[in-house]
Amino acid sequence: TQLRGVLEGMPKAELHIHIEGSLEPELIFALAARNNVALPYASVEDLRAAYAFTDLQSFLDIYYAGASVLLHEQDFYDMTAAYLQRAEADNVRHTEIFFDPQTHTARGVPVKDVIDGIHRACQDSPVSATLILSFLRHLSEEEAFATLEEALPYRDKYIGIGLDSSERGNPPEKFARVFARCKELGFHLVAHAGEEGPPTYIETALDVLQVERIDHGVRCLEDPALVARLAREQMALTVCPLSNVKLCVFPAMAQHNLLELLDAGVKVTINSDDPAYFGGYMNDNFIATFEALPLGLSHAQRLARNGFEAAFLPDAQKQQLL
Ligand code: HPA
Ligand code: ZN
Repeated sequence: TQLRGVLEGMPKAELHIHIEGSLEPELIFALAARNNVALPYASVEDLRAAYAFTDLQSFLDIYYAGASVLLHEQDFYDMTAAYLQRAEADNVRHTEIFFDPQTHTARGVPVKDVIDGIHRACQDSPVSATLILSFLRHLSEEEAFATLEEALPYRDKYIGIGLDSSERGNPPEKFARVFARCKELGFHLVAHAGEEGPPTYIETALDVLQVERIDHGVRCLEDPALVARLAREQMALTVCPLSNVKLCVFPAMAQHNLLELLDAGVKVTINSDDPAYFGGYMNDNFIATFEALPLGLSHAQRLARNGFEAAFLPDAQKQQLL
């Protein structure tokens, strides 16, 4: 249809993408061969067949296993370059990329190699790209502090701090002190909240961590006062529709609450989260959402504009990207 062409062609900003989640099965196997890493899957098809998730944790187990093939700076470069090519093809003009240093330092990979490889690929791409270092919330605050310390020598290569991994039982306030330190250091702050966790996690991400955007946040709709607050404060939610369906946050795309959020005045953006695992990149997310929900041209324009408005970029730079 005509709307499909508009969705594909419009300039977009992506604000919620985990670079480790862009690792396609073919690249996982290629890197495994290059690095002599044994995989518990016989083939690309065998691995892809394991992508049948029931919740966030069932996905995270496979996502961390996939990342085990990443050992050298060039591996991080190749992964990021492949993602940026997909983003460029989808008319993504700007992207803010999460990376999880703890996933790699736990295997003995120096944080410098992780950051250098991802950052070098960003510099070689025509797509505007910045990085957000994310702490794994199933680990301790002490471990987050240690990771921050290791990564601070390279602080000119990332602009923000995020919080991801297993949400339930790991509320934002667990990381109050390390986020306060990151704020002092001048980083932008975001956190995953209200994907599987309750609306109270969204509130503590805002009030305790003082984040500037909420990643996911879709469970806010269970608390009307919170929805009103998000709308009033024009707090951006980086919503990931295909991810939400694959991880059973909603039973099907037709049940996704994105339109209700938009109608309530919440600043919603559309993003891919872990595109290699959830069935697609930015345009796939836009198309799947618009096919399942009664959304039109004005919604498309609003969603695209929200992405740029919520981006951590100076206004002058945003204008140049449009
Ligand atoms: N939620 C939490 N942690 C994650 C996700 C997610 O959607 N993707 C990668 N790590
Ligand atoms: Zn995410």
